[in-house]
Amino acid sequence: MNDSTNGAGTESAQLSPESGYAATSSMPTDLVSDTPPVATSPTIGPSTPADPSVVPPPSVPSAPSVPVDPTGPAEPVVPSVPTEPVVDPAEPAEIEEPDLTPVAPAPAVNGGGNASSPKPRPQFPDPPPLESHGPARILAIVNQKGGVGKTTTAINLGASLAELGRRVLLVDFDPQASLTIGLGIDPLSLEATTYDMVIDRDVTAEDIRVKTAIDGMDLLPSDISLSGAEIQLVTEVARETTLARQLEALRPEYDLILIDCQPSLGLLTVNALTAADGVIIPLECEYFALRGLGFLVDKTIKTVQERINPRLKIEGILATMFDMRTLHAREILEEVVGRFGETVFHTVISRTVRFPETNKLGEPITTYAPNSVAAEAYRQLARELVGRLG
Ligand SMILES: Nc1ncnc2c1ncn2[C@@H]1O[C@H](COP(=O)(O)OP(=O)(O)OP(=O)(O)O)[C@@H](O)[C@H]1O
Ligand SMILES: [Mg+2]
Repeated sequence: MNDSTNGAGTESAQLSPESGYAATSSMPTDLVSDTPPVATSPTIGPSTPADPSVVPPPSVPSAPSVPVDPTGPAEPVVPSVPTEPVVDPAEPAEIEEPDLTPVAPAPAVNGGGNASSPKPRPQFPDPPPLESHGPARILAIVNQKGGVGKTTTAINLGASLAELGRRVLLVDFDPQASLTIGLGIDPLSLEATTYDMVIDRDVTAEDIRVKTAIDGMDLLPSDISLSGAEIQLVTEVARETTLARQLEALRPEYDLILIDCQPSLGLLTVNALTAADGVIIPLECEYFALRGLGFLVDKTIKTVQERINPRLKIEGILATMFDMRTLHAREILEEVVGRFGETVFHTVISRTVRFPETNKLGEPITTYAPNSVAAEAYRQLARELVGRLG
């Protein structure tokens, strides 16, 4: 498919207008500031029971949103939310409960119904196959908080989109190179990476491109040297648009380009936001993550929209590592849906030990455990995303 020359060679936001989320902070003076402001505590629902270990029956209707391959083995998709979580004693850390999809009850503040009369759960059918490819929609996967599932989402959403016949290019824009390693490619084996692409004018994105083991999914790999690019770029003219210029040349070949960002809001991330048409924000459902989300949306993304890239759109906030056994996670998810409404993906990624396993093996969960609930969750996300993108 591509003629990689790389050593390893072998796819506005407008903050949801109905969002009732009120920014409390003034605009930043510096785009690349990394220090979230001190926020007031989010309001936790008044219905918190006295005993936090008691998980109340969910208010979400129970129709299954994930069709299951009847030939698939063992791992059942729970068709309705149980009052007690089902936990496999053999794997106590694994919670595979896909059906807590927030129905975006859209409390009155978002103008779309209310929590007591939730909307029917949407279905996400397989999109029709494409007759031709490109030009790609470029999406940055961003959250300045570390370890929230950005790279996991890039790998598994990318692989799921490829399964749907979409041509996908993944861009590793993190010096940690987790995306590269997570796809089974050793950064030390590479002759050139995203570092060379942004620093050396003679190196193009095509020069560094490698194939992955997934049909239809290619990668612009990274390595630790990218950490030096941030400092080197500072003296460049149009330093925020370096990545955008490079990706433009590959846009016609792909349907989606996913950029995996590092956990900071530095110049590399601003480059990604400048190149992107849209943003996906993975969010771990816990309190500190919620505070950081406000900073990301109200300051960084808004500032990039206003100053550099007005077409930037938040395509969706993705709840990751969701643990339905904890009341806290459920409350945070409700809070996020309450603030951001339909901007929150209906698909929720549950916490499961399967993901760390896949990191070690260097492959997506869609091939490592193709019939797992976790794989199906990312497939559902892919269908939901394609539906959103239209
Ligand atoms: N749904 C999940 N359940 C359990 N573990 C998960 C899940 N998603 C990701 N993980 C694990 O959590 C860790 C962090 O995930 P990941 O690397 O995707 O986060 P990240 O946001 O890209 O991190 P960083 O900010 O460092 O780049 C990894 O070990 C990954 O396997
Ligand atoms: Mg990462």
